[in-house]
Parts: sequence; structure tokens; C-alpha cells
Amino acid sequence: MIVFNKIADLRSYLQQQTEDNKTTGFVPTMGALHEGHLSLVRRAKAENDLVVVSIFVNPIQFNNQDDLLKYPRTLDQDVAMLTSAGCDIVFAPEVNEMYPDKPKEHYDFGNLETVMEGHFRPGHFNGVAVVVKRLFEIVEPERAYFGEKDFQQLAIIRRMVEMENIQVQLVPCSIVREPDGLAMSSRNMRLDPKSRSLAPKIFAILLEGKKMSQQLSPKATEDWVLSQFESITEFTPEYFTISDAVTLQPIKQWEEGRSAIACIAIYLGGVRLIDNLMYRS
Ligand code: PAF
Repeated sequence: MIVFNKIADLRSYLQQQTEDNKTTGFVPTMGALHEGHLSLVRRAKAENDLVVVSIFVNPIQFNNQDDLLKYPRTLDQDVAMLTSAGCDIVFAPEVNEMYPDKPKEHYDFGNLETVMEGHFRPGHFNGVAVVVKRLFEIVEPERAYFGEKDFQQLAIIRRMVEMENIQVQLVPCSIVREPDGLAMSSRNMRLDPKSRSLAPKIFAILLEGKKMSQQLSPKATEDWVLSQFESITEFTPEYFTISDAVTLQPIKQWEEGRSAIACIAIYLGGVRLIDNLMYRS
């Protein structure tokens, strides 16, 4: 496995490799890797000749400076994990390599970004779109792999790819969970032992909510789920919304043939976690 820090070096290496029609699968990450990321790498490896993983903590997608400072950085460990997962190339640029000048792009994603993460983290998705577009231009992959834990992010990237007419196949990959149900996340390593022991409740309550939704309206299901979290003092939900899985707009009623996704963002022990579950597919 080779690690590149400079765009020009990576580009010239990839150009040589792709001269023999080799396909490239790309997994963009911010590092602090876990089994969820490795499952994307393994899938990319099975479907492509070359796998490129980027590790870049993208400052422009953090709307909270404290969150950026506390974001875990574990490059040596990440590189070791990627080597054993079969990754071919790591791209780990410095901030000034990705952004020699302050990025000026401003995307309008309409209603897709006015809800959930977009509502609570202003500017976040613009920062994601800017960095993913740059990474796509640098790596020029045939396929790019994204985890469905960041469900709204995937919808935004899909829209950005359409708007920019980028030739890449986006491959959504299911959430990978710990044996106790907690969705894998780089932020989990910041949970103290008490919070870690409570964290599986997030998925357990999402599952119970799905059962309750068989008898309740979407709004009543939302209220029921929120009341479950609010009864545990350590949890502070930021939002829990049941939305149309395509438009991401909140739904008022269940409709035959319309898929509905339940998404949550919640604070636990000072750590912000997100998760989701399809309530109707
Ligand atoms: O999902 C992430 O880790 C990041 O948002 C991404 C897609 C790597 C862009 O920085």
C-alpha cells in the first residue's frame, strides 16, 4: 500500500495505473477508521482493480470548532488497518494541499439541506460537497462507496454529482453495527464507559419505534420515540424525524409505495451521534 500526501504525486501514479484500463474504487473518509469503513474498503476491493482511500479531516464541513479540534486523528493506526483490508492507495493531504485558497463554491441543495443535519449544522453539507467534488476530480474513480449511516450526506452527494455531471457510480453501503446494535462511528471512541453502555439504546429505541409505527401516525411515532429518549437523562435528542426516504421531507402519513426513513441525532456524554432506520421500504 502506498501513502500519498500530494495531489500531483497521486495523480501521476493513478495515471500510470489506469493506462491499462484498471478500474478505481474510492472510499473517502476522515480517518479514525473502524470496521464500518473497512467493510467499504473490502467491497471496493471486490468490485474494482484498485482501491483508493482518502483520509482528510475536512475543516470546512465542521460548523463547530470544538468538534473539529476533538475529531479523533489516528493516522498510523488507520494506515495499518487499511493495509490489512487490502487498500492499495491512501491519500492523506494536508489542509493547504486541498485548499491552497479559501474555497468559494456555494451549492444550493434546496429542501434537501434545510432539514435534519442541514438544519442543525449550517454550512456542513456545502463543505462536504466541496471536498467530495475535489476528491472526485483528483481520484477520478469509477465507483465511490458511502455508508448509509450518513443518509442525508449520500442524498446531497448524489445531487452534487448530478449538478456537476460527474461520471462516477455512487455505491450506498448498509450501516455496520457493533454486536450490541450501536452504529459504528469514529465518534464512538469519544464515549466514556457509562455513555458507551447506554449507547446501544439508540438503535434499540429506533427498532421499538418501528414496531410502534405499525399503530401510530408518523407524528405520534416521533413523539413516542422522543419520549423514550427523554426518559433517560443522559440522552439529549437534537432531532428525530420520519421522512420520505427520497425527498428527505418530513411525512405526515404513511403511504403505500413511499419509503420512510427515521433519522436521529442525539447527544450522549457530550458526543453527538447519528443513526437511522428504514420504517417503510
Ligand atoms: O462521511 C465522511 O467521513 C465525510 O463527510 C466525507 C464524505 C469523507 C467528506 O469529508
